Amino acid sequence: MVKYVYLKNVLNPQNMTKYKLEKNMEVYSKCSDYASDACPCELAENGCCIVCSMCRGEDYCSCTDTVSFCVYQDLISNGGKARPRRRSVSCQVTFVKQYGDDFRFIRLNIPDGDTTEFKKLGAYVFVRTNENPHFDTPISVLYDEQKNNSIGLLIQMQGIKTNCFRNLQKGDSVYLRGPYFNGIQGRKMIAGLRGGSAAVFCRGIGFLPSLGVILTLKANGNKVDVYLDRGNFNTHLLNLLSRVFEVHLSEVDMCDETGKITDEMRSVIDKHLQNETGLLHFGMSDYLIKNIAEILDTYSQIPSVSFINNVQMCCGEGICGACTRNIDSPGVVHLCKEQLDMEELKKIMKVKI
Ligand code: FES
Repeated sequence: MVKYVYLKNVLNPQNMTKYKLEKNMEVYSKCSDYASDACPCELAENGCCIVCSMCRGEDYCSCTDTVSFCVYQDLISNGGKARPRRRSVSCQVTFVKQYGDDFRFIRLNIPDGDTTEFKKLGAYVFVRTNENPHFDTPISVLYDEQKNNSIGLLIQMQGIKTNCFRNLQKGDSVYLRGPYFNGIQGRKMIAGLRGGSAAVFCRGIGFLPSLGVILTLKANGNKVDVYLDRGNFNTHLLNLLSRVFEVHLSEVDMCDETGKITDEMRSVIDKHLQNETGLLHFGMSDYLIKNIAEILDTYSQIPSVSFINNVQMCCGEGICGACTRNIDSPGVVHLCKEQLDMEELKKIMKVKI
């Protein structure tokens, strides 16, 4: 599907200059689906678009981007209908490996063979073994393998939705829906950092969704320092992942048993702030992220910040309401879809925890 960029706003369609977006070019706005193949989505069709005031029925265009994809124009040219929604597809399991009691790695064959979208920053999918569509669970994409038309997922089995993967064997099928892209908050900042330096802080399983961040930062020529608190995460698995993805890990105790940020962690953060590191990324629980946000508040200037998105997701489409939060803004925030800046994120953290 070809997407277009318009210089003029939608009120003067005859004056619009069209520019083809390069295939797979990343366009970030407040919505993680903005200008993707899923845009305009059902929110736009039903007057609830996160980005576009015109789609929301207002009589003016409040778009602040100078060069941007026009959701309204695309909706009109598609007959007022949303682009096809992501559907569940059946995928064959081509490899399974168990790590300890709780972790299972599975490799899935993607039916149409195109894994390009799965490698995008923050990509995650909903998977299930059960016929019931309400039983799918969001899992971040660990890696994609274009040559084998496959993706890899590492699943922690700890509840009803994930325990069904315990008996999964090579040759079985799972249902997959996606990819979705809001697994990371701050995608724009991560993608925008080139030739600079970044510090990535992960605790336990927070390392998994942060791997894509580390690899993207490295691919963009940044110097990346990665700090890890193993917590009670599978040590063998962490060692394996750091070897396979060639990530050097510096071990840091990030919190004590009460969740208080340790002096050691504070001094590492302080060192990076003094050294003017361009971006700090945090892959850990919301509780720890909130505590760190309070520490960052004590500095007069902080660099760009990104986080993993820990919110509970159900539909991933901004419709069901499972991920919504109220902050002091006119509407609720759909954390499955919306990209937030640091200030908005801090407000949500205060409400949520
Ligand atoms: S998960 Fe359904 S609205 Fe976000």
